[in-house]
Amino acid sequence: MTVAYVAGATGYTGREVVRLLRSRKIDTIAHVRPDSGRLEQWRERFERLGVRVDTTPWEEGAMAATLAALQPDLVFGLLGTTQSRARREAKAGVSREQNSYEQVDYGMTMMLVRGLDALPGSRRFVYLSAAGVGPKGNAYVAARYRVETELHQTGLEWVIARPSWITGPDRDEVRPAERIGASLTDAALGLAGLLGARTLRDRYRSTTNTALAAALVHHGLERSSDHRILESEDLRGYGPTGA
Ligand SMILES: NC(=O)c1ccc[n+]([C@@H]2O[C@H](COP(=O)([O-])OP(=O)(O)OC[C@H]3O[C@@H](n4cnc5c(N)ncnc54)[C@H](OP(=O)(O)O)[C@@H]3O)[C@@H](O)[C@H]2O)c1
Repeated sequence: MTVAYVAGATGYTGREVVRLLRSRKIDTIAHVRPDSGRLEQWRERFERLGVRVDTTPWEEGAMAATLAALQPDLVFGLLGTTQSRARREAKAGVSREQNSYEQVDYGMTMMLVRGLDALPGSRRFVYLSAAGVGPKGNAYVAARYRVETELHQTGLEWVIARPSWITGPDRDEVRPAERIGASLTDAALGLAGLLGARTLRDRYRSTTNTALAAALVHHGLERSSDHRILESEDLRGYGPTGA
């Protein structure tokens, strides 16, 4: 029986991945950070779905020990910080360093990768990266590109997903810049599509957490020894609306 471990389970995409895994009766473990202000709410929500909750701290040895004990076949790395989160938490006394892309998007994701790669047998890692990730770019892109590059050097099966904007009406946090960015991009791409630039439109058009999660779960559960990089257009068509 497949055992799936979801890091970033409390995120907009992660919570939907957890729900979908359980709807397929997969033994699912949702990671919630031990210092989460909403730990009990998350515990209740996940346990109601029949999901096990893990609160291992983000420390290399602790995470490796947890993965060794739980022996997941499949790990989803769906976490990442944002500049607005770093600014907001800085006001509450959390250093900017603790919320840097280097520390969170790269550092924590690589703790999972190394911990899983150390286990015997074939294991699969699904990494939620982002559209446009490559060798050139800002700190966000650089952190993600390092994870992608280092995944290639492991013995894991891996799936790298590169969606464009992930948007929807029910985020906990209002993200006006993201919503506006996604709307403007979608409008421009709609026009480009009408003019024949369908590839461009499919690459950068926004998606929803439900559509994206359906694609991640589909590719995560498909056991094969291959390595896949899925661009935005490859992540469409798995959700209930086919979005
Ligand atoms: N949003 C987009 O348009 C977009 C587009 C392409 C790619 N992506 C990437 O896709 C991923 C998921 O996106 P999303 O919108 O679903 O994310 P989200 O809702 O912002 O969730 C982020 C997740 O990361 C965790 N996290 C953030 N900072 C952390 C820290 N310092 N320590 C421990 N955990 C931390 C959060 O945990 P808590 O709940 O405990 O804070 C949460 O589980 C992100 O990595 C993002 O960069 C996003």
